[in-house]
Amino acid sequence: MHTVGKLMKVFVTRRIPQEGMKILSAAGTAVCMCEVSLWDSEEPVPRTELLKGVQGAQGLLCLLSDKIDTEVLDAAGPNLKVISTLSVGFDHLDLDEIKKRGIRVGYTPDVLTDATAELTVALLLSTARRLPEGVEEVKNGGWSSWKPLWLCGYGLSGSTVGIIGLGRIGMAIAKRLMPFGVKRLLYSGRTAKAYAAEVNGEFVPLDTLLSESDFIIVSCSLTPETQGLCDKAFFSKMKNTAVFVNSSRGAVVNQEDLYQALKNGQIAAAGLDVTTPEPLPTNHPLLTLKNCVVLPHIGSATYSTRGIMSDLAARNLLGGLQGTDMPSELKF
Ligand code: NDP
Ligand code: DGY
Repeated sequence: MHTVGKLMKVFVTRRIPQEGMKILSAAGTAVCMCEVSLWDSEEPVPRTELLKGVQGAQGLLCLLSDKIDTEVLDAAGPNLKVISTLSVGFDHLDLDEIKKRGIRVGYTPDVLTDATAELTVALLLSTARRLPEGVEEVKNGGWSSWKPLWLCGYGLSGSTVGIIGLGRIGMAIAKRLMPFGVKRLLYSGRTAKAYAAEVNGEFVPLDTLLSESDFIIVSCSLTPETQGLCDKAFFSKMKNTAVFVNSSRGAVVNQEDLYQALKNGQIAAAGLDVTTPEPLPTNHPLLTLKNCVVLPHIGSATYSTRGIMSDLAARNLLGGLQGTDMPSELKF
C-alpha cells in the first residue's frame, strides 16, 4: 500500500483512448494520488524518452511496441511495482527480470478476442478470395469482362481448417469459421482442449495439421518455442493450394522462407496482420507479391475494443499501485 499523502509517479508511454485517460486523471486526485506523466503522442516514445520518463516511477502503462527489459527496469529503479500493458500479448516484457523484482503485471485478455477473431476471418477471406487484387483491377482498368477463370480463389465450404494455438482468439476464430461449412477443424498446440469439442476440433500433431489443412491460421502466443515456427520446413509440408494466415506475432514466421514459399508456388497465398519489423518497410519483398495480403496490426482495432482495453489497462495499473486486486493480472 502507498503512504497516504505521498504522490505515486506513473509513466504512460502513449496517448491512449480517453476511457483510460479519464480513469488516470481522476486517480490523480481521488483514488491513489498519482502524478501521471504521459508521452502525449500517437507515435511510440523514443527509447531515450522512455528511459527518462520511467525514472522513479511506481507504475508504468506501456504498449506492445515498448520493449520492457533490464535497461528499462534499471532506469525505473526499485520503486516500480506495476507494469500494465495495453495488450494481451506480453512477449515485449522480460518476465524473468520483472518477476525477480517482484513487479506485478496487468494485461488485456478477453476484451479484444471478438475483434481480433473477426479481423482474422476478414483477412482470411480477403486473402483466399483475392479481394485486394480485385479492388485494384477495378481501379486500374484491368476489369475487361466477366471471365470464367479470372481472380478465382479458394472457398471455405467443405474445407479443412488448421489452427495453431486454439486459445481464446483461436477458439473465437474457429467458432466464426464453422458456419461457412468447414468440414474438419484441426488444431495443434501444447495440450488438447476440452472446449474444442464445441467446434468438433481434432487435436493433431503439427505435421498432420500442415499436410491436411486447406487454411492454416496462426493464433498462438510468441514464445521461444513458437519463434520462427513457420519456416521453410513448415511451408514445404503445406498443400500447394493452402492459404496461410497469421494474426499472432510476426516473429512466429520466418518471412524470407514465407516469401520463397509464396513466390515458388509452394503455398497459394498468405494473409498477415503482424510482421517483423512493424511497420514493414515499404520496399519489403513480401509487398511485391500479389498473393500476400499485409495489414498493419489492426486485429483489435475497433473503437469500442480499444476503449475497453484502455479502461482495463488503467484499472490494472491502479490496482497494482494500490496493492489491491487487478482486474486482469498476468500470473507468471
Ligand atoms: P491465449 O493464451 O488464450 O492463447 C494462446 C495459445 O497459444 C494457447 O492456446 C497456447 O496453447 C498456444 N501456444 C503456446 N505455445 C504454443 C506452441 N509451442 N505451439 C502451439 N501453440 C502454442 O491468448 P489469446 O488467444 O488471447 O492471444 C493469442 C495471441 O494473439 C497473443 O499472444 C498475441 O500475440 C496475439 N494477438 C494479436 C492481435 C492482433 O492485433 N493481431 C490482437 C490480440 C492478440 P497451449 O494452451 O496448448 O499452450
Ligand atoms: C495484443 O493485444 O497483443 C495485440 O497485438 C494488439 O491488440
